[in-house]
Amino acid sequence: MDNKKRPGIKSIETKHFEERDALFRALKSLDRRSFLKVSAAAFGAVAGQGLVPPHSFQPVSIARADMPKGGKSESFRFAYISDSHLYDRKINDRFVNSLLRAVDDVNGMDPQPDFVFYGGDLAQLGQPAELELGAQILKNVKAPLHVMVGEHDWYFDLGEKWKSLFGQPMYSFDHKGVHFVVLLSVVEKDFWTARGLTPMQRMRTVAGLDNGQQSSFTVGPEGRQWLENDLKTKSPDTPIVVFSHSPLYKLYKPWNFWTDDAEEVQAILRRFRQVVVFHGHTHQMLTNRIGNIHFHGFLSTAWPWPYAPQGLPELTVQMARPDPFDPQDGCGDGSADVHPDGLVDLVQNLWNRNPVTISRTYLASYGKADKPQVPTLKSY
Ligand SMILES: [Fe+2]
Ligand SMILES: [Fe+2]
Repeated sequence: MDNKKRPGIKSIETKHFEERDALFRALKSLDRRSFLKVSAAAFGAVAGQGLVPPHSFQPVSIARADMPKGGKSESFRFAYISDSHLYDRKINDRFVNSLLRAVDDVNGMDPQPDFVFYGGDLAQLGQPAELELGAQILKNVKAPLHVMVGEHDWYFDLGEKWKSLFGQPMYSFDHKGVHFVVLLSVVEKDFWTARGLTPMQRMRTVAGLDNGQQSSFTVGPEGRQWLENDLKTKSPDTPIVVFSHSPLYKLYKPWNFWTDDAEEVQAILRRFRQVVVFHGHTHQMLTNRIGNIHFHGFLSTAWPWPYAPQGLPELTVQMARPDPFDPQDGCGDGSADVHPDGLVDLVQNLWNRNPVTISRTYLASYGKADKPQVPTLKSY
């Protein structure tokens, strides 16, 4: 039945598409008021479980209670958002809503984080429209923003669009005595030229992760040289934080949860007393320690991956298997308190569940102290 003939009666589909159009129209406007309106509408439906306060980045007791007596207390906090996998707006708005929720989370932190870090895979298939949409949403982040590349952002045009929006993919910065390094760690050997693949075929092959045609991720010789140069003047006592989209260790090759030259990168980082690596890509709570290097995986805003069938690091506290009927369960964002000694307390802000804190003492003691409180809700 044509709705024009029956004014006032709209089908569910018509209402859905009207709401969707309104959402995307509002997104075009970058002013704060319309952003708040659309983001509130985007996640208004999920607050009903009575578990998680609206902005769950409150100090968590374990993160603060064990400060060394007489030690400097000047820690600082940054927040993260990662792996939003935005499709073109005409195809999928669910992931748009999730990114809006994350942006609203970090904007709601009080006090505000010193900066917000975006962990890569902003786009799903590296399309210019996907990256532009992501950049447009991320402009609403109130704190200073740093952005990293993921493979889904890169392999359609080999970074052309991403660079025009966000700059160089490898860079570093210093903040309150800590040296931060951002890597391009999804470099693959050319598997496309010999096969005569189009840019879209190349992108889809990389996005497949487990189709066996792509190469493994690397930082690559150029990237490792860049890293060595960047760290050359730093003393071994400088706390180092590395952001890498791929995990920087070898977890599970068939899914490309893997960095092929991980040992060589770790060797460059070995002379430092304390190094923390944060990575995206794996879409799950993942914790590891190799010598002086602590590793933390970021949650995704789009979907949680299952855990790899083998190779899971011993220190990982597994999140519960998400509810398949709740599209945001198992997703989330987070924040990290960086302490003067370079050790980090990480709050994994699992949406629709209680946040989980992975304390620095848990990792420093190789899991003997302060085992994180695991989510108490059932798995599905
Ligand atoms: Fe991802
Ligand atoms: Fe990824």
